[in-house]
Amino acid sequence: MTPERCDIGLVGLAVMGQNLALNMEDHGYSVAVFNRTTSKTDQFLAENPGRRLRGAKSVAELCGSLSRPRKVLLMVKAGPPVDESIEQLLPHLEEGDVILDGGNSHFPDTIRRTRDLETRGLLFIGTGVSGGEEGARRGPSIMPGGSPRAWPLVKPILQAIAAKVGKDQTPCCDWVGPDGAGHYVKMVHNGIEYGDMQLICEAYFLMKHSLGMSAREMHETFAEWNRGELDSFLIEITRDILAKVDGETGKPLVDLILDKAGQKGTGIWTSQSALTLGIPAPTIVEAVLARAISAQKAERVEAARVLRGPEARYRGDAKAFLRAIHDALYCSKICSYAQGFALMAAAAAEHKWDLSFGSIALLWRGGCIIRARFLERIKDAFDRSPRLKNLLLDPFFKDAVDRCQANWRLVVSQAALLGVPAPAFASALAYYDSFRRETLPANLLQAQRDYFGAHTYERVDRPGVFHTEWAPGKGA
Ligand code: 6PG
Repeated sequence: MTPERCDIGLVGLAVMGQNLALNMEDHGYSVAVFNRTTSKTDQFLAENPGRRLRGAKSVAELCGSLSRPRKVLLMVKAGPPVDESIEQLLPHLEEGDVILDGGNSHFPDTIRRTRDLETRGLLFIGTGVSGGEEGARRGPSIMPGGSPRAWPLVKPILQAIAAKVGKDQTPCCDWVGPDGAGHYVKMVHNGIEYGDMQLICEAYFLMKHSLGMSAREMHETFAEWNRGELDSFLIEITRDILAKVDGETGKPLVDLILDKAGQKGTGIWTSQSALTLGIPAPTIVEAVLARAISAQKAERVEAARVLRGPEARYRGDAKAFLRAIHDALYCSKICSYAQGFALMAAAAAEHKWDLSFGSIALLWRGGCIIRARFLERIKDAFDRSPRLKNLLLDPFFKDAVDRCQANWRLVVSQAALLGVPAPAFASALAYYDSFRRETLPANLLQAQRDYFGAHTYERVDRPGVFHTEWAPGKGA
């Protein structure tokens, strides 16, 4: 059933590309596909007979088989391959055609590409696509941004294939904003994903080393947590991971995995953007750093032979401590999301993107890796107060932290006393305690800067800019 003219073209038949092509076809769209290695295209078509899929042996053939205005979705590796694919497509496209980039591209690249293609009369969309293989196939969260004129042209397709949430089956896909807005929001999604994963790992580590819980017991705990306010995809997969037993050894598989984390860079980009914009996102940054120190396995093995710390075992009420770990995770998660949303607000102001935070929460409600019941609460918070400055100030989240903070403090202090690293829990608490304080020690810091560098300071009792000769015996 090879279609004459296809609704959309797709370049790049790796896992995400294949699954998105099938998802689009499921929803009634005919798809022309192209892959650099033709054998992959042939194999994909052979494995999926009887569908409205058309293989192309060249980009010229791909573009020639599309109805107009043409829409071509790139599912290639972020970075130079995206630019190379665009270059190859250009001679075969005409004014008004749309190129979409569905990879994890860095948002400054998306800003540049949108501008370049628009000056050539083409339209460009850089879109976040989250949800992994399963999401791509059954309904991802889709975060498109770029040329606003392109949106109506691709909206029906993208919304059809996206995850749906709620009674009215709202698609987890909506226009995010111009140029790099879609990829920026996806980048922050990934930063939050890093934070969530690290927080869960810290909870697991405390359960394992301070409470001596078995994988089975932890599996049961995460199963229970997943029925409450922490209900989310990442808690759910953690529950499942902890139940998995290695076929050969009979041990929990998680115990056989080398504790060296990988990363492809989106968490680093989020941290860099936070640092550049001067927006504190310590929980996300700590999550990146925790991956970095985990990767120094050889150094840690050596240091473990030399460096000493306390006994990790908690001697108090284990049940109460487990509940406290839950609360620490919940409060830290609230802080991590508060940081992510504050970061997006700063980026929106910087790049003149009119981001709607309630709809971003809704985009993340289903389909993506950070999908969670919790995001409904965030949506409610921004519905109540669209200009909310920080999630912690919303009454729902304020109450949650009020209720849980004693336990959060217990866990952070015990982790320090027991010598169990919990950097994301601790940094989230420091963020909370800094944010809630009217005064911080930066008065002294300003004095230090003025002392050695004449950087000047302001005073609390009168306006103006001041400098003092600080050295004893100098000045007034
Ligand atoms: C998603 C994921 C996906 C991927 C990231 C993170 O939203 O579906 O975020 O994009 O998992 O690339 O990968 P790393 O952990 O390797 O950085």
